[in-house]
Amino acid sequence: IRVAVVFGGRSSEHAISCLTAGSVMAAIDEDRYEIVPVGIARDGRWVLASGQRLAIEDGDLPEVSGEGLPLALPFGTPGGDLIVVEPGEVPRALGDVDVVLPLLHGPYGEDGTIQGLLELAGVRYVGAGVFASAASMDKGFMKVVWEGAGLPVGPHVVVGDRHWRRERKRVVDEIKELGWPVFVKPARAGSSMGISRVDAEPELEAAVEAAREHDPKVIVEAAIEGREIECGVLEGLDDDPAEASLPAEVRVGSGHDYYDFDAKYLDADLRIDIPPDLPPAVIEEVRRLSVRAFEALGCEGLARVDFFYTPGGEIILNEINTMPGCTPASAFPKMWAATGLDYPALVDRWIRTALR
Ligand code: DAL
Ligand code: MG
Repeated sequence: IRVAVVFGGRSSEHAISCLTAGSVMAAIDEDRYEIVPVGIARDGRWVLASGQRLAIEDGDLPEVSGEGLPLALPFGTPGGDLIVVEPGEVPRALGDVDVVLPLLHGPYGEDGTIQGLLELAGVRYVGAGVFASAASMDKGFMKVVWEGAGLPVGPHVVVGDRHWRRERKRVVDEIKELGWPVFVKPARAGSSMGISRVDAEPELEAAVEAAREHDPKVIVEAAIEGREIECGVLEGLDDDPAEASLPAEVRVGSGHDYYDFDAKYLDADLRIDIPPDLPPAVIEEVRRLSVRAFEALGCEGLARVDFFYTPGGEIILNEINTMPGCTPASAFPKMWAATGLDYPALVDRWIRTALR
């Protein structure tokens, strides 16, 4: 079975995607699967990307070099050629791949765009489809779906581009109702990029502008005091229901206000407890809510659901990631290993559900 592993990409999580790809390709069972590494350079060029460095070296994050053999795909490149393929035909330059493993985080990867391209090309792929990817990428819409399904989400205000430019006073008044502090986030970004904590109104404007550098759509969330709990979900094999892993608690090293980019990937102090020190009933509820959050959005394949557990015992959904980081520092593969599925078996499961 030939698997095109796609990584890098145009989002600000380019390097994280490379780290994820490095770990996944090291874990994949090469007796069963033949890997075709496909890199997407930051400028959007697709290349055959064998032998690239996909780990952190001396604090240097990896990056896809656009130097590899260029791939002329129906995927095209920004401003590049489009090649017409017959319906159902596999794109020539990828050869005969059976399945694509889009190990991409963030916009142009985790947001339904590449999923749509693969649907058009008639190629199977691992993970969520077009709608689930798009809705799960957007911190506003994921909450709309969850609220509609009766799932617990925190108070928040969505700040659209025009609202911010033309109705700022009304928007700020609405945000003030949340109380301070708040977290200001780009609606569609990941790895904590562009996120800031705001403790008082005078800091708000700069924080929104910083988030707007990643996305013109911004979400402002009431800060929820609580422990950060994550849980993995996998689509069931055959007709089995989706399954949740044992959850994890992430404890950031001192010197970080919250689980920011450096804490996530660069801080040796990061502690991940699997399972967290929580009553068994809470752990079961986190697992149950994770599956419901996954199903409410119509996810497929895999996802990681993130929660807050408050001192008052509430479990609140924070977000979902349809292509969770699987870097050496990430909780996702560790949660599944603790649940009895080692890394090669985990990747095997993704591919088997995609080929079903
Ligand atoms: N967005 C990053 C990769 C994560 O959620 O793990
Ligand atoms: Mg995310």
